Amino acid sequence: MPTIVVEGGHALSGNIRVRGAKNAVLKEMVAALLAPGRHRLTNVPRILDVDLMADVLRHTGCTVEFGDHELVTVVPDEVLPVTPIELVRKMRASIVALGPLLARCGEARIAMPGGDDLGARPIEWHLDGLERMGAEFELVHGELVGRVDGRLKGAEVELPFPSVGATENLLLAGVLAEGRTTVVNAAREPEICDLIDLLNAMGARITGAGTALVTIEGVESLHPVEHEVIPDRLEAGTYAVAAAITGGEVTVTDCHPAHLRMELRKLEDSGCEVERGEDWLRVGGPERPAAVDFATLPYPGFHTDMHPQMVAYLSVADGVSVITENLYDARFRYVGELARMGAEISVEGPHAVIRGVEQLQGCPVLATDIRAGAALVIAGLRAEGVTEVGDVTHIDRGYEDFARRLASLGAVVERRD
Ligand code: EPU
Repeated sequence: MPTIVVEGGHALSGNIRVRGAKNAVLKEMVAALLAPGRHRLTNVPRILDVDLMADVLRHTGCTVEFGDHELVTVVPDEVLPVTPIELVRKMRASIVALGPLLARCGEARIAMPGGDDLGARPIEWHLDGLERMGAEFELVHGELVGRVDGRLKGAEVELPFPSVGATENLLLAGVLAEGRTTVVNAAREPEICDLIDLLNAMGARITGAGTALVTIEGVESLHPVEHEVIPDRLEAGTYAVAAAITGGEVTVTDCHPAHLRMELRKLEDSGCEVERGEDWLRVGGPERPAAVDFATLPYPGFHTDMHPQMVAYLSVADGVSVITENLYDARFRYVGELARMGAEISVEGPHAVIRGVEQLQGCPVLATDIRAGAALVIAGLRAEGVTEVGDVTHIDRGYEDFARRLASLGAVVERRD
């Protein structure tokens, strides 16, 4: 099992450059399906999920080639509208191929995603929205088969919750639909704004990016473009918390601090010095953090994907922090692993109460998802002795070269495959 081995007690210092956002690039790769021809993305992170999405595209008949943090996809005139279970199991985000495949081929056959490390994660809002646009779905032996007679039709869709994936599927379907689609209570994440920028450059007509009301005027066809992926705010935030827990000082470059307002505010409340410019931020960690409370919420609230890293940090705070997880029922699975390191955390429903301890102790632990894996490595940076984080393939899904990049900041860390 690939493992990251960390020796605690070394303050991080130096500069680190952030790569492109996982949760933008995956959808932008899929957007290529909407137009035949040669598409190019730059600032592409070299992470496992990008490799998996490349396989999803290859399965439909596209060719995908990687360069130095760039990716060229050539989409044929006819694509095969199928995503098999092996790929959906490895990466649930494959479900965003539904909208573009229906729009492009009038048909989509995608293995039904089950739950994953974060809980049940249903997709009924994606399907309800696409049904409003004229699609019909049936489940055939575990495969979700979607069909539309002719073109998708514009519709008004109200989402019960600002779901990132449902908003994206509706965008990717609506751009080639006949007439106007409006998404009410749309997700407002920066990654969605970046997807909208890409789609508009391809010839789409979308307004309202970054607001809860997105309007899409369908067009007949789209064309390929080149696009630079926005920086990964979660990668930036993860290095910021890593610096903070060690009491070190790190400058994160090529990022957008404006996309991390709430998370940086909580770091400041805990005693960090935070400086920022338009595309950089510097975090200086306190000797021991003060306790802070937070609740995860859709953007611009505190991001659920920064929750485990922040809890690792608060586990050594002076005082008691209370946090509320509003997105995922199974997000707390990593808490038992942090407890093995000496953290004192009790979980009751969506709430966790963290009684800060003076010192964590290194020991073998297991990554249970991408962010939990990052959080355990972060805890190891502060712990006494050596922490071995197993099953770090989870970390590879979302972080490029995590161990090597932490080592470049002075962490004593290595990866063993
Ligand atoms: N939900 C439903 N029904 C639906 C759709 C969503 O109940 O039809 C629920 C989900 O179960 C969840 C909540 O709504 O409780 C929010 O889910 P959302 O659809 O917004 O999330 P997602 O699109 O599945 C993306 C990211 C996640 C990130 C969430 C929230 C990608 C590939 N994934 O997931 O990222 O946590 O938005 O911001 O973009 C990660 O990067 O580690 C990660 C898990």
